[in-house]
Amino acid sequence: MHGSEEGVMERVESDRRSLLGAVGGMLGLVALGELGSSGLAEGQVAGTGPGADAMSRVPWPYRPLDADGVGHAAFVANGQGGCMFGVVEPIVGGVARQLGAPYTSLPLALFMYGSAGVVGWGSLCGALNGAAAALALLSARPQPLISELYSWYEREALPDFMPKGARFPNVASVAGSVLCHASLTRWCNASGKKVASPERAERCGALAASVARKTVQLLNAQSAGNPAAGAPEPATAACLSCHGTRGTECDASGRMRCASCHAPAELKAAGHPAT
Ligand code: HEC
Ligand code: HEC
Repeated sequence: MHGSEEGVMERVESDRRSLLGAVGGMLGLVALGELGSSGLAEGQVAGTGPGADAMSRVPWPYRPLDADGVGHAAFVANGQGGCMFGVVEPIVGGVARQLGAPYTSLPLALFMYGSAGVVGWGSLCGALNGAAAALALLSARPQPLISELYSWYEREALPDFMPKGARFPNVASVAGSVLCHASLTRWCNASGKKVASPERAERCGALAASVARKTVQLLNAQSAGNPAAGAPEPATAACLSCHGTRGTECDASGRMRCASCHAPAELKAAGHPAT
C-alpha cells in the first residue's frame, strides 16, 4: 500500500517536472511572440500593460464550453499532471485560450498539488478540488454548483463517461464520500484491482473526465439561467439539525455524508438518541 502510493506520487512528480519544462518553454515562446507583436516600449514588462489586471477579478468572463470535449481533454490532461490539473486545465485553460492574454498567464501547473487527495494524502479528491477551483474562478455563485457537484460525486456510480483513448472496460463504483481514499478503495473493491494497477490509473483519468464534464454542465446550466440548488442531502441535513451550527448540540460542521464515517448501526449500538 505504502509503496504503491509512492508509485502514484512518483509518477505525478516526474510528470510535473516534464510538464513544467514543456510549459516553461511554451510560455517563453508566447512571451517573445507578444513582445514582438504588441510593440511594448523598451523596459516595459509584459503583463503590466493595460488590461493586465483583468484576470485578477473573479469571475472571469465565461461562455459555455462543450462538456464532452472538456471530458475527453481532461483524460489527457490527467495523464500529464494528475487529477486536479486534469480537471482545471481543459476548463480554466479552455476559457483562458478563448479570452487570450492576460488570462493565459495563470500558471495552471500550480494545480498539480491536488493529485491523489493533495500530494498523495487521500483527502479531498483532486478532481473535485480542481472543479471547485474552476467554479470559483468562472462562476459568480460557485457555492451551490460546488455543493451540487460534491453531492453528485458522493451518490453516483462513477466514472459515468468513457473518454477517447481509454483501454480498459469501465468499472463504476459509488464513493459515498468526497475523499480520495474512500473513492479509490471502494473502486478497488468493486473492480478487484490494486491501487497501483494501470486500470486504477485509467479509472482516475476517466473520473477526472466525468467530473470535468459534469462541472461544465453545471456551469453552462447556471450561465443559461438554470442554477443548481445545491441543497444538502436529507440524511445529512437530519444529522445537522441537532449537530450543526444551528442545532442543540452544535458540535459538528460540514456537509460530507455523515454515514460514510459514522455508521448508523454503530451509532445505534452506542446508544445514540433515536433520530
Ligand atoms: C435529535 C437530535 C440528534 C440527531 C438528529 C442526531 N444526533 Fe447525534 N447525538 C445527539 C445527542 C444528544 C448526542 C449525545 C451528545 C453527548 O453525549 O454529548 C449525540 C451524539 C452523537 C455522536 C457522538 C457519539 C459518541 O459515541 O460520542 C455522533 C458521532 C453523532 N451523534 C452522530 C450523528 C449522526 C451521524 C447523525 C445523523 C445520522 C446524528 N448524530 C443525528 C443528538 C442527535
Ligand atoms: C471523514 C470522516 C467523517 C465524516 C464524513 C463525519 N465525521 Fe463526525 N467525526 C469524525 C471523527 C474522526 C470524529 C472524532 C471521533 C472521536 O473523537 O472519537 C468525529 C466526531 C463527531 C462527533 C462527536 C463530537 C464530540 O463532541 O465528540 C459528532 C457529533 C460528529 N462527528 C457528527 C458528524 C456529522 C453530523 C457528520 C455529517 C455532517 C459527520 N460527523 C461526518 C469523522 C467524520
